[in-house]
Amino acid sequence: MSDTSSRSDDGENSPGAACPPDPDGLPVLGNVHALAADALEFYERRAAERGGVARYDVFDTESYLLTDPDAIRRVLVDEHACYVKGEMPREQLGNLLGDGLFLAEGTRWREQRTAMRSAFFRERVDEYGDAMVEHAQGAAADWDDGDVVDVHEAATEYAFAVLAESLLGDDIERERETVRAAAASITERFDMRRLTSFLPEWIPTPANRRYRRRLDALRGAIEDLVAERRAAGPPADPGSADDLLGTLVAAAELGALDDDELVDNAVTFLFAGHETSALGLSYTLHALATRPDVQDRVREEVAAFDDDPTPAEVRDCPALTAAVDEALRLYPPVHTFFREPTEPVTLGGYRIPAGVVVSLSPWVVHRDDRWWDEPETYRPERWLHESSSGEVSVGDDTSGPAVGERPEYAYFPFGGGPRHCIGMRFARQELRLATATLLRRVRLEAVDEDLTLRASANTRPAGPVRVRIHELDGETATGDDRVATGDA
Ligand code: HEM
Repeated sequence: MSDTSSRSDDGENSPGAACPPDPDGLPVLGNVHALAADALEFYERRAAERGGVARYDVFDTESYLLTDPDAIRRVLVDEHACYVKGEMPREQLGNLLGDGLFLAEGTRWREQRTAMRSAFFRERVDEYGDAMVEHAQGAAADWDDGDVVDVHEAATEYAFAVLAESLLGDDIERERETVRAAAASITERFDMRRLTSFLPEWIPTPANRRYRRRLDALRGAIEDLVAERRAAGPPADPGSADDLLGTLVAAAELGALDDDELVDNAVTFLFAGHETSALGLSYTLHALATRPDVQDRVREEVAAFDDDPTPAEVRDCPALTAAVDEALRLYPPVHTFFREPTEPVTLGGYRIPAGVVVSLSPWVVHRDDRWWDEPETYRPERWLHESSSGEVSVGDDTSGPAVGERPEYAYFPFGGGPRHCIGMRFARQELRLATATLLRRVRLEAVDEDLTLRASANTRPAGPVRVRIHELDGETATGDDRVATGDA
């Protein structure tokens, strides 16, 4: 493992520390061609060739891929005050997310985060449980026995419906089409499989014009809703609101957000919380389809509920939780995110200047065989075998390091430290409730065993994620004393 001595341990930031080896990219372009061809493969190869701190260049921007979990912890937790999100995400997302939570820095970020915290407390997130279950039932309503469905498409529709309702409450009925059109345009705009997504937003391509028009419509609709809610008397405090927009309005009334930031944050939730969850659910369902034994074990857990699953019930399902956590390990929806040191720092024994890009990649670290046995295999049992009782084991596979034996930041699908994903509890509950609801109704069979993924803003599938549906009649049923039997 590489040196992980901390900045404070190094006195004056280790003035004698070496610089990481130079990149091997082309003049002017740097390593852009390799990144554009296949960023996931590029990051993995670079880490394998260059170790814990791997230099690469994006045009003239110095970038350092960090793959040592202890160094990642220092950036995100111990020394987070020495880093900002920096220019790169702002250049890409600034026009969309403005000064919302995702991009805000310093005091503005802290005030916003404090004001919004209560919207993600457990009791509040539990209240979204019914919508999470109902929309999962709706997603499966048209599925017939033997159908081959694209679970990515279904999960995208699902996550959109859940987030839109959680954001706007009953008002979504009125604004659904405006929000849906804006969400689709945002996804299209940041889809790096389309060459036009590399063009700056001010170039009037049809996609850019559509994007701008729909985003303006979304912002206008949110402004109207905010005005109506203010007129009706906003909730007294952010924690008592019925939906996320109510939290934002209450936070603005308390002075924690100005009006532009309020709208920026509504857009931020839509952007940050819908595609990521959709990807997590797609990959969970696909992975379970490739592991019928694990799927049966999870179904046994969730078939035991008397009625539709509740947030508290699914929290208490070790095999279901392991199935989701393992999908987020193998296919982290956010493959890489970035920080910028505001002063020179020492990481992995190397001196890193201020103002460069430090890249943190769950994709690379989650597939590092120092921490993960058979890293490229979907094995939820790795999350269970450290259990002393053994009751919760799935299968007999107990090889590889147990959870407690790995460094904490060998697994960080939701980031870490003060800026970890504020929607983490919401997302994990959503993934568990949707998976539980679906497995109580259908059995999933893989059509394509392997997934081909592409790095876009997130880790997207290269094509449809196809799964064959089998209705459970005569196999496993739910809600009464019928239990999983035999090979599903
Ligand atoms: C499986 C689903 C999700 C994944 C994998 C995910 C992942 C992440 C990651 C890695 C970060 C940290 C980025 C960084 O430090 O630069 C983040 C931040 C964030 N996420 Fe999520 N996210 C998910 C779902 C959600 C949901 C459902 C919401 C909202 C309802 C949300 C809202 C946010 C926001 C606002 C931030 C910025 C937080 C801050 O800077 O204080 N995310 N997410």
